[in-house]
Amino acid sequence: MKVLNFGSLNLDYVYRVDHFVRAGETLSALEQTVKAGGKGLNQSIALARAGATVYHAGCEGRGGEGLRALLRDNGVGDQYLRRVEALQGNAMIQVNPAGENCILLFGGSNQCITEAQIRETFADFGAGDWLVLQNEVNGIGRMVETAHAKGMRIALNASPCNGKLAEVDFGKLSWLLVNEIEAEQLSGCREPEKAWEWIHERYAQLSVLITLGSAGSRAWRVLDGRVEKACQKAYAVQAVDTTGAGDTYTGYFICGMMENRPLQECMDRAARAAAIAVTRPGAAESIPARELVDREGTP
Ligand code: RIB
Repeated sequence: MKVLNFGSLNLDYVYRVDHFVRAGETLSALEQTVKAGGKGLNQSIALARAGATVYHAGCEGRGGEGLRALLRDNGVGDQYLRRVEALQGNAMIQVNPAGENCILLFGGSNQCITEAQIRETFADFGAGDWLVLQNEVNGIGRMVETAHAKGMRIALNASPCNGKLAEVDFGKLSWLLVNEIEAEQLSGCREPEKAWEWIHERYAQLSVLITLGSAGSRAWRVLDGRVEKACQKAYAVQAVDTTGAGDTYTGYFICGMMENRPLQECMDRAARAAAIAVTRPGAAESIPARELVDREGTP
């Protein structure tokens, strides 16, 4: 069983600041670095470090050559990456002293996926394989249609949560992964339990995971028409940079699901991996290897 992640690759321009810049303000950054990121790339690396056989599809643009090499160095299949002329997708990220971030995205190459690329990529995947998606590339509606027709299992991390999600038939997804803000944006319900009920009423087949930051995460798994519910605490650590922690959680969680592990175990390992990630700077580079996650026990 293998996983296809059709997703973004970004150059992250990371600025350490003593506070997030305000409207009309000019602020000097304390430090600037350029790192590998993109929810797609981060989740592919998290899946691979968690132990999955993963292939990343997407577009490599001008300036993004090192991102392909990083995927390859992490054991991620890169044969479905297409070279395009557009500028590499990128993100401007401010990180404050509490390790929180705010992110400004530029799609660039991530918006250059063609129908032909989708067709050719999916030709190599079939029933039983998984498709992982986020909402940073174009064409995700068509990808969901194609994967569903082939009998693949589909996990969507609906982030960022915006109008482009309207092209996705949620009735064809197996898993929806969102944070608490995205859950509210989708359902109009602030309370996670209510958001789950809203989603479940409309898409009875859909399992849902909602991450709640320091309050942990909750999941509702639909299996043979029955709902299994689980709550997971977040491990308390000194945060350096929370960028990519959600992607770390997602990759580890989906890998656990692919291995048919119990729901609670998948959430616990994902929470441990994410806790380690927030103690390190950067997105992709902060994702821990499985051996470390299993060895460290409670961070
Ligand atoms: O989830 C974190 C990621 O969001 C960053 O790496 C940035 O590139 C944006 O896609």
